[in-house]
Parts: sequence; structure tokens; C-alpha cells
Amino acid sequence: MISPRQAADSVPTAASPFDPGNPREYEVWRAHKLACYPASTTELLVEIEDGSHLSASERSQLHATLARANTVIYRLRDSDGADKKLIHRLGQQLGLHRLDSNLCADEDSITSLRVVEARREGEYIPYTNRRLNWHTDGYYNSPDQQIRGVILHCVQPAAEGGENAFLDHEIAYLQLRDENVAYVRALMAPDAMTIPANIQNGREIRPEQTGPVFSIDPAGRLHMRYSARARNIFWKQDSTTQAAAECLLNLFQEHSAYIFRHRMQSGEGVISNNALHCRTEFSDDPAAGQTRLLYRARYFDRVTDQQIEAHDTHVMFE
Ligand SMILES: [Fe+2]
Repeated sequence: MISPRQAADSVPTAASPFDPGNPREYEVWRAHKLACYPASTTELLVEIEDGSHLSASERSQLHATLARANTVIYRLRDSDGADKKLIHRLGQQLGLHRLDSNLCADEDSITSLRVVEARREGEYIPYTNRRLNWHTDGYYNSPDQQIRGVILHCVQPAAEGGENAFLDHEIAYLQLRDENVAYVRALMAPDAMTIPANIQNGREIRPEQTGPVFSIDPAGRLHMRYSARARNIFWKQDSTTQAAAECLLNLFQEHSAYIFRHRMQSGEGVISNNALHCRTEFSDDPAAGQTRLLYRARYFDRVTDQQIEAHDTHVMFE
């Protein structure tokens, strides 16, 4: 069943460059996006003195980087004592307020990601050390609980491995649309994909969800729901949708100039408008006290900044 809200969310806003019916706006946006897109991971890095009190300059660097790539990597100059409160504070300063209390989040709605031996019902890969394939967070959430912003903070890296990679979902959209505009149209259909229900020991933990891959929010921004794990998604049985899904999968090439890779160190973190990301496998060394621990906060908000948005709109449509 597709709810009215779900259908409305996937209806393109008139002025959005992401509306396949707006080729002129798309061309202007595309040229600007490619001209501004970072050339390397270094361009995603922003140093922060105190995450709970951002300076005007730090804030503007975070916003500017997010505007370019929908992902920014921060590095706290002093990470001693960085706790979940700091993550809350950091998010609040960027307009991230509404936290998703998902199944596995701790009491304060921020999840501690570490390897756990005795798993909870249903095995969630973030709690293992195995490779984590390309996805956006909460792609299985209901339409009114979509994840639009994420903070991932590294308390301690693994002894080995655990590198993240990031791909701006707007770039994924751009590459698909350049290949064939019918592909983005197909992936915007409200019945493009179905995420099967999560059933554990005969009990439904989460119901089936049907919805679009790409949708446009009321402000004209692009939102994406996706998992590259084949068993996580049933694609619509339609040749264009199937070809679009195949094309999307082919974007995650090792040599892609649009993909950024980074292995987070203690005190580093990522703020993202829920762009595409993945993670390599890793190994802990408990005897040496080197076990990977990350804090993850998922928000129903995306990072907002009126000034940047006003500037973006100006550049987009001038
Ligand atoms: Fe994730």
C-alpha cells in the first residue's frame, strides 16, 4: 500500500532541477554541481576546535562542504571527552534536532556501533565487522520517518580496516539522468522498489515498505533510499526499472572520481545529508584495547542553513 504522504513525497516540486520535467533547471544545476564537486577527500575535511561551540567560520565551512558534496568530514582538534552530548550539540547547531529512535539506538537515541557477540533479534550488519555494502541510512523506514541527516562519530577506529566510502546521492542521480532520463523517472515511481518485511522467529519486526528510490522534498531537495544488497530490495518487474537498478549498481566502481574514501580516526566524524556510503570489513584487537566504536545519530532533518540555501537557489536558477 502506498500512503498519500508517500505518493506526495515522490511528486516532483515544480521548480526543482531534480524534476525530470525541468530540463533547463537541471542543466544549470548540473553545471554548477560538477564545477563545485570536490576533487579529493581532502576537500571534505574541516577542523573543529570545539564541537559543542562551533565558530562562525567552522559553521560556514561545514555548510559549504555539505552544499558541494552532501558529506563533510570533521576533525576535532581535541577529542578527549567527546561524548554523545557533544554529538547532540553538534547536530543542534546545524539544524539537526529530530532523532530517530530506531530499534537499536541507545536510550538517548544515539547508537553505539561496535561488534557485539550476542546479537539482538535479526542480525544487523553495523554490529558486525563484515563489509557493509552501499546504502543510505534507514532506507527501510516508513515514508514519514525518512532519514535526511546523519552524524557518525569515531570514538576509536578498528585495529585494521573499517574504511568508509561516500558518494553524493545527487551525483548518483546526475549520472543516472545523464545515462537515460527514463532511469530517474523509473526510480522516482512510488512503486519502484519494495523492501521486504523484517521477520524474526515468526514475528514481524518491521513491515514491508514500498516506495521510490529518489524523491523530492517540499523545498525541492533530493532524497534517496537505497541498498545495494540484492536481498534487501525487490525491484519493480519492469524493464526500465531493472535497467536503472543495474545502472545504479555500476556507479560504485573502484575508480570512480566521484567516490571519496576515508578511514576515520579517533575524534573524526562525518556529517551527511544521508548521502550514499559503505564500509570495508575490519578487525578489532581486544587484547590491545583496539576495538572499533562509533556513535551514530540519525535525524529526520537534513542540515539547514538559510543563507546557503538562498545562495544555492540564486546560483541554481540565475
Ligand atoms: Fe549507514
